[in-house]
Amino acid sequence: MELKKSKFKLPENFFIGAAASAWQTEGWTGKKDGQYSYMDLWYKSTPHLWHNGYGPTLATDFYRRYKEDAKLMGEVGLQKYRTSIDWSRFIKDYETAEIDDEAFKYYNNMIDEVIKNGVEPMICLEHYELPAVLFEKYGGWESKHVVDLFVKYAQKAFEAFGHKVKYWFTFNEPIVVQTRVYLDAIRWPFEQNTKTWMQWNYNKVLATAKVVEIFKAGNVGKDIGAKIGVILNPEVTYARSSAPHDIKAAEMYDLFFNKLYLDPSIKGEFPQELFKVLKKHDCLFNYNDEELAVIKNNTVDLLGLNLYFPHRVKARTSGWNSEVPFHPSYYYEMFDLPGKKVNPHRGWEIYPQIMYDMAMRIKNEYGNIEWFIAENGMGVEGESKYKNKEGVIQDDYRIEFIENHLVWLLKAIEEGCNCIGYMLWAFTDNVSPQNAFKNRYGLVEINLEDNRNRIIKKSGRWFEKLSNDRYFEAKNTEIVYK
Ligand code: BG6
Repeated sequence: MELKKSKFKLPENFFIGAAASAWQTEGWTGKKDGQYSYMDLWYKSTPHLWHNGYGPTLATDFYRRYKEDAKLMGEVGLQKYRTSIDWSRFIKDYETAEIDDEAFKYYNNMIDEVIKNGVEPMICLEHYELPAVLFEKYGGWESKHVVDLFVKYAQKAFEAFGHKVKYWFTFNEPIVVQTRVYLDAIRWPFEQNTKTWMQWNYNKVLATAKVVEIFKAGNVGKDIGAKIGVILNPEVTYARSSAPHDIKAAEMYDLFFNKLYLDPSIKGEFPQELFKVLKKHDCLFNYNDEELAVIKNNTVDLLGLNLYFPHRVKARTSGWNSEVPFHPSYYYEMFDLPGKKVNPHRGWEIYPQIMYDMAMRIKNEYGNIEWFIAENGMGVEGESKYKNKEGVIQDDYRIEFIENHLVWLLKAIEEGCNCIGYMLWAFTDNVSPQNAFKNRYGLVEINLEDNRNRIIKKSGRWFEKLSNDRYFEAKNTEIVYK
């Protein structure tokens, strides 16, 4: 008999939390001349392209309001809160990695405040906050010198907070910035250069391995059982059809956008196929055997995955213009599935089964490494129209979104997947790259019309209840249990 479950229990050691990043929340208060990040520079270079002119300048003002926010984290029941240290703020001299005292005080107090409110901090060393001067002077992650500067900075961060932060991550979505800047050229400085794109990817993989190496060698946080990982955004990729040409297109997409990071981070090796294809298209990265050995010997303990929507591809039907540099889309075209459910505000397909499909993949292809959902969420424009008369946003659509994704995740756990938690993007509304405050993601509203006041949304209260009860009743889940 088929049974449709409606009550879902969170496994005992499964955590729930929410994420954010430094540059999307802190604002520029306290930053000194020369302490800007690539994201800040991008905003300064093209503010007119950012939604309603908003950007990282004030963001949610978390730098000044973290105490109030830490209290709210406790109130909505977060077990963990992930944010980043802004490398460009934390370090005063990027060459020597001298720490900025004021920034140290801020991060130290902020971390303590989060812990004080019963929430465990998770810290990412780079959520796109590459220092702008390193971008201008060395071409950013294109340079191996920058890799070494990152390692020096990581060492300082471990010395400063290694005794109290248990979860560390090298990068958040390391593929993203260069894909927008050098592959698709939709962000400042709008330079299309596939070889540069690939070098950034390789150097970030190398940087993760080098940071894992010093973390292990230094026994960082050994007494508290600290772990180091990376947060990736593999794209669950479905072929349009079962025809071999469509399957091949999906495999090539997977190679360039997923295996590129999953394989070296977890298995310690890039796929051989990648070397072959990159050589063929003359965009192989610059590497040596010593570096490959560092990558081989320093894989991550833990994996965070940001999963929002599926990608659907088909074989190319139009010819390739040989005048333009190679782009992975040489091998595929995106496929628009008729009838798909979409979040119209962000344009992303809603397909909760991605949770299960990715979980099974990590179980079957990546040794069932310990992992968690580091981001998943729903950005909605104009949420104030959903306010009730008390002024609280009634975001039932977000609750349903979370429930449906959790249901698929819990099913995967029942089937043996090693997923240890789920984090929502985001804790509060915050600044999206370019979209700024257009699409709201938070459990807590940031009211821009009223001094950025914080108001817990209906989803925040739902989260609080979930955190207390450890189960939820899902109304519209589509999973049928046999
Ligand atoms: C993730 C990023 O890709 O998605 C976040 O880690 C980002 O920084 C989030 O804000 C949501 O995407 P967006 O572009 O709508 O803000």
